[in-house]
Amino acid sequence: MGEPAQGQAFDMPRGDAKRPAAEVLPYAAAAGAPPLIQVQDIAKRYESRSGDSIDAIEKISLDVPRGGFISLVGPSGCGKSTLLKMMGRLLPPSSGRIVYRGIRQGEIKPRLGVVFQESLLLPWRTILDNILLPIEVMRLDAAAGLDRARKLLATVGLEGFEKKYPFELSGGMQQRAAIARALAPEPELLLMDEPFGALDALTREQMAEELQTIWMRTGKTIVFVTHSISEAVYLSDRVVVLSGRPSRLLDDIEIDLPRPRSLDMMTDPRFGTYATHIRRLLSAKREM
Ligand SMILES: Nc1ncnc2c1ncn2[C@@H]1O[C@H](COP(=O)(O)OP(=O)(O)OP(=O)(O)O)[C@@H](O)[C@H]1O
Ligand SMILES: [Mg+2]
Repeated sequence: MGEPAQGQAFDMPRGDAKRPAAEVLPYAAAAGAPPLIQVQDIAKRYESRSGDSIDAIEKISLDVPRGGFISLVGPSGCGKSTLLKMMGRLLPPSSGRIVYRGIRQGEIKPRLGVVFQESLLLPWRTILDNILLPIEVMRLDAAAGLDRARKLLATVGLEGFEKKYPFELSGGMQQRAAIARALAPEPELLLMDEPFGALDALTREQMAEELQTIWMRTGKTIVFVTHSISEAVYLSDRVVVLSGRPSRLLDDIEIDLPRPRSLDMMTDPRFGTYATHIRRLLSAKREM
């Protein structure tokens, strides 16, 4: 993504600050609703069979509101993917807990959609059949699923490509199909781990723009891991900045920019201020 303009300093809204008025973010969580996810004092230590251990995450707490778009940024190997997996209950924490919808009893699992750096489409299935895969696996209503899959093809701009095979699509189109597949079972939570990492810079910007549109249309809660500071600022309600391993929370910054955001907004001084703040946090830790 392009380098944002440097801006003048202004008060950096914090993640725990009051959310903007509903007319600014009409699709965001209703005021007063419990967060979809509460990460409470989570730590993760990986133990190997040989007895070695790696502390990936020291102690992190954060909330993700329903309908929110939260990005995780931090140095390579700091534990972003680990935290993302724990947020989806794909990996147990070593200590601390994850609470969904404010319900503390039991281990509720959210209906989850996951998108990784590689699209991981099945090469022997058409695009439509790839999108239908989770509906088949979860044994959801096939007729309703087909209807939803066709609508999702339009949402991600792949109308007319349903009968094509993955190799017939560009990298960006394959990622859009992967996003449609993740949305097919109507997840309440979409976890995205560097979904645009393998794309060229221009396609990546276009995908970020499209993801914002998809998010605004579907109202899903998205947790998004990226190495791109400008991508994180452009897309997010909040950017969570993590330290090097073992990961701690360096800052949780509310991005108070109006939606929908155009790519031109990257030259807005306020955009530059957010990006510079995050870059300084990350480089300060590297120099220590
Ligand atoms: N299954 C595992 N077993 C042991 N160690 C692991 C495992 N998965 C991750 N780790 C270690 O935990 C640390 C955090 O890994 P993680 O993949 O969460 O980092 P990351 O921030 O996503 O990195 P990147 O930006 O490179 O994707 C790393 O040191 C990694 O080696
Ligand atoms: Mg990772």
